[in-house]
Amino acid sequence: MPSPTPEGVNKDWRIIGRLMPHLWPRNEPGLKLRVLLAIGLLIAAKVSNVWVPLFYRDAVDALSVPATLVALPLGVILAYGLARVGNLLFNELRDLIFARVVERAMHVVGLRTFRHLHALSMRFHMDRQTGGLSRVIERGTRGIEVILRLFVFRAGPAVIELAMVAGILWSLFDWTYPLVVVVTIAAYLAWTFGITEWRLNFRRTMNTHDAEANTKAIDSLINYETVKYFGNEAHEASRFDRALTAYENAAVKSHASLSLLNIGQGATITLGLVIMMAMAGHGIVRGTMTPGDFVLVNTYLIQIFLPLNFLGMVYREIKQSIVDMEIMFNLGDTTPEIADAPDAPALALAGGTVRFEGVHFGYGADREVLKGVTLEVPAGETLAIVGSSGAGKSTIARLLFRFYEVTGGRVTIDGQDIRTVTQDSLRRAIGVVPQDTVLFNDTIGYNVAYGRPDAPWEEVEQAAKLASIHDFVMGLKDGYDTKVGERGLKLSGGEKQRVAIARTILKDPGILIFDEATSQLDSHTEKDIQAALARVSTGRTTLIIAHRLSTVIHANKIVVLDGGKVVEEGTHAGLLGAEGRYATLWRKQQEATRLENRLEETIMDPDTGIESRHNI
Ligand SMILES: Nc1ncnc2c1ncn2[C@@H]1O[C@H](COP(=O)(O)OP(=O)(O)OP(=O)(O)O)[C@@H](O)[C@H]1O
Ligand SMILES: [Mg+2]
Repeated sequence: MPSPTPEGVNKDWRIIGRLMPHLWPRNEPGLKLRVLLAIGLLIAAKVSNVWVPLFYRDAVDALSVPATLVALPLGVILAYGLARVGNLLFNELRDLIFARVVERAMHVVGLRTFRHLHALSMRFHMDRQTGGLSRVIERGTRGIEVILRLFVFRAGPAVIELAMVAGILWSLFDWTYPLVVVVTIAAYLAWTFGITEWRLNFRRTMNTHDAEANTKAIDSLINYETVKYFGNEAHEASRFDRALTAYENAAVKSHASLSLLNIGQGATITLGLVIMMAMAGHGIVRGTMTPGDFVLVNTYLIQIFLPLNFLGMVYREIKQSIVDMEIMFNLGDTTPEIADAPDAPALALAGGTVRFEGVHFGYGADREVLKGVTLEVPAGETLAIVGSSGAGKSTIARLLFRFYEVTGGRVTIDGQDIRTVTQDSLRRAIGVVPQDTVLFNDTIGYNVAYGRPDAPWEEVEQAAKLASIHDFVMGLKDGYDTKVGERGLKLSGGEKQRVAIARTILKDPGILIFDEATSQLDSHTEKDIQAALARVSTGRTTLIIAHRLSTVIHANKIVVLDGGKVVEEGTHAGLLGAEGRYATLWRKQQEATRLENRLEETIMDPDTGIESRHNI
């Protein structure tokens, strides 16, 4: 479909061109056969359609000379009926047979884009709204449907039919008839494309505000709890209202412009019809044409003008689809920031010694978070990273997992730079219990088994037991079939953390990262799980990130991170003896714990003497 500028036209055709391989899918003889059949049926339908007015004319002519009428021209009338039914039947069969080709194309492209989204890096996803991404796929695949259905089977064949009709009119009468038809259609198209192009602006505005209203509504409903905490329902409603008002205004303009489009279209067609009917009438008066010819001209015109009524819609849909497909294809063309080196080997895990060598990193160019971090976790040992909030502890975990690329220095596992091995093998070797656990909106069983979806059920339960979540689950009415709600919101923070621990235990990786894995648990449960974690991490290289120092005293080594650098390192005892930051932090936390314990002791019912242990 033409765009105003030549570059625009080229781009549009390029995008449509990208769909063409789906019309001739490789290694799919069945689909190829369907395409051929559909084309055959399309031609059959058009040929039937062209015969309809011819039979109609014959019937009218046979009937309009009563003197010579010996019998009802039943044969011609039947033929007329057959031609009509044939057209209908061939069209429907064509749609039926072609449907799988269209649906397969949507399926293939949708899946490919989905895969690609998972291949794109963390940074990409951090900057995007998930809802927006799934809408891109949804709209893009719908665009494919529109192009294949409307463009390939409506717009294209319409041109063929037009040529056929013009040829027939020419051969039956003279060249003035096809000329009027072509001029009428040209005027019609010019009007339609011009006005539709102008209307697209309103559509665009509508779409923008529609998306805006949508994101606001979703964001607001996701944050239901927060909205209530701050009593901001009215504020949310007014934000939504603003987006809706803008949409409403654009929609009204769009409707008004549609009326303008329709009026112009109707006027052009009527004018063309009137001219041609006058010409045919003149032919009858002169005796060069029969009344049947008059009907024939009229029927042909209506037959080719009628589909034009949809043209504005078809044009708009096709333009919109091109835009939607372009967005989706662009997404598919985004190169992942983190890619495997060509011929990258799998990580050869031998013990799992992790080394950070002078690592520099910043999320943006403007601020460096890690400024030359060097640390080593010898195979099978446990290293704890402590430090104030925002020091870059979680960042270290993300870099080891290669969610981001270091900007300086290198990260190695058993001597292999993690940039040289496949991401898949690297990530298979590492288990992470992240700081903020989110769960899939499915059952607890599903979420635990997610660690290794093909694990036998006993192992899933075993992992749950190790993470101290099994008993809790068994106490629920539906047990492991209990739904956890969106992002796991129906579980408490500590329960979610234990599910996350269980699924990492089930994954059974060579290297473990616990990022504040027990921070949401009360000290009693925490001790339980610490013991379990200690068991799990024996013999495995383990990185523990923690605020509560009491949870890391058994680590083989502790590093204190501050200002993007390792400022202290050593064992718990060694660091205490060094009287540095760690020692100060330790004493502060000890003091806090003592206070807490004393408070717990005082909360005792004076009458019954029954102690109620609250965590304060
Ligand atoms: N995706 C991101 N984009 C930009 N900056 C980020 C991003 N993630 C983290 N940061 C910044 O990087 C710094 C280090 O973050 P990091 O999450 O590593 O801290 P942390 O030491 O784990 O803190 P905490 O103890 O609070 O979890 C912070 O200042 C944070 O604001
Ligand atoms: Mg963190």
